[in-house]
Amino acid sequence: MAEQGLKDWLKARVSPRRFLHSLGVRETVAELARRHGADAEPLMTAALLHDCARELSGGEMLSRAAEWGVPIRDVDRESPVLLHGRLAVEIAGRELGIDDPRIASAVLYHTAGHPDMSLPDKLFFLSDHIEPTRDFTWVGELREVAREDVNRAMLLAVDINLKHLRSTGKVIDPNTLELRDVLLDR
Ligand SMILES: [Fe+2]
Ligand SMILES: [Fe+2]
Repeated sequence: MAEQGLKDWLKARVSPRRFLHSLGVRETVAELARRHGADAEPLMTAALLHDCARELSGGEMLSRAAEWGVPIRDVDRESPVLLHGRLAVEIAGRELGIDDPRIASAVLYHTAGHPDMSLPDKLFFLSDHIEPTRDFTWVGELREVAREDVNRAMLLAVDINLKHLRSTGKVIDPNTLELRDVLLDR
């Protein structure tokens, strides 16, 4: 689908705030990809897809996952929002015929990270955190580190996420902890 078509498609599905966030991710990932030598194009498409399922209710997320044969783990039952990346991959394939594995892995892993992330997946994950509309406490530092050292930025982003999840009593995806171990071993 042409880019304008994809923007219109997304705009019809999410709130204005999340639409702007997605455009911000697109812009940021293009810049990070240039800086770190990755192919920007699939990541820019991924930006317009990654949160397309984010505003479904928890119940809808679980019922779509069940309907589409998406594996549902115990943590997903506890926190269905963990499914929104995987559901976005499904929707992109089913509604738009998009099945590029570079797009799929960036979208899939943006939610909680994963120990097997590629460089482009990491650039996408970071862009989701640092795009211009984000304003959490550590965002300035994370923006700076993301320009210089991708793996150090990933560790910082994961630790920020874990701190937030722990302080709010939310469930932690085991993939996030495995990713952290891989980053620490580097
Ligand atoms: Fe998301
Ligand atoms: Fe996002």
